[in-house]
Amino acid sequence: MREYIITTQRLGLRNWLPSDEAPFIEMCQDEAVMKHFPKVLSKEETLGLIGRLKAHFEEHGYCYFAVDLLETSEFIGFTGLANQIWESAFTPCVDIGWRLKRAAWGKGYATEAAAACLNAAFTTFNLNEVLAFATNTNSASEQVMKKLGMNYIGNVQHPLIENDDRFTHCVVYKVLRN
Ligand SMILES: CC(C)(COP(=O)(O)OP(=O)(O)OC[C@H]1O[C@@H](n2cnc3c(N)ncnc32)[C@H](O)[C@@H]1OP(=O)(O)O)[C@@H](O)C(=O)NCCC(=O)NCCS
Repeated sequence: MREYIITTQRLGLRNWLPSDEAPFIEMCQDEAVMKHFPKVLSKEETLGLIGRLKAHFEEHGYCYFAVDLLETSEFIGFTGLANQIWESAFTPCVDIGWRLKRAAWGKGYATEAAAACLNAAFTTFNLNEVLAFATNTNSASEQVMKKLGMNYIGNVQHPLIENDDRFTHCVVYKVLRN
C-alpha cells in the first residue's frame, strides 16, 4: 500500500511519485482538462509543476496532493492545498484546488477528496481559513466549492490570466474553520 497523507472511502492523497509524471503530462495536454486555463502545458511545464508541488509538500506538509483510486492505485489527478502568494485583495492565503483526468469526472471524486483536505486543513494543518479560485466560466469547479460549503466572497483578476479575454474574472470562495 502506498503512503497516503489522507484517505477517504475511495481515494488516497499523497506526495508525488515519478510514476505520476507520464499520466499527469497526458492530463495537462488534454484540451478539456485545461479548458479554463490559458493553454495546455508542455511536458517541461508539467514536470516543473510537479517539482514545485513536491517542494511545497516538503516545506509545508501539504500541497496539491496526487490522488489515487484506492481500489486500483490508479493516479487520477490532484486535489489539495497550496499557499498562494500572488498579489491581490485575497492573498496571501491557502487555497484548495483540483484537477482530475477526464475519465474520473462526474463521480464525486473532487468533492470527496476536497472535503477530506478541508478537514485536514483545519485539524492537522491548523489553518483558520481556506479560499478557492476558479475562472467565472468554470461551473463544475464552482459547484464543487458550493458542495463543500464554501461561500462566495468576491471576484479577482488572476495575474496569470489577465491578458486572456476568455477569462475576465475569477470567482473567490472561502470557508472558515468551524
Ligand atoms: C472541476 C473538476 C475537478 C470536478 O471534478 P469532479 O470529480 O467531476 O467533481 P464532482 O463530481 O465532485 O462535482 C462536480 C459537480 O459539478 C457539476 N458540474 C459538472 N460539470 C458542470 C457544468 N458544466 N456546469 C455546471 N455544473 C457542472 C456536477 O454535476 C457536480 O455537481 P452535483 O454533484 O451537484 O451534480 C473536474 O471537472 C476537472 O478536473 N476539471 C478540469 C480542471 C479544472 O478546471 N480544475 C479547476 C480549476 S479552478
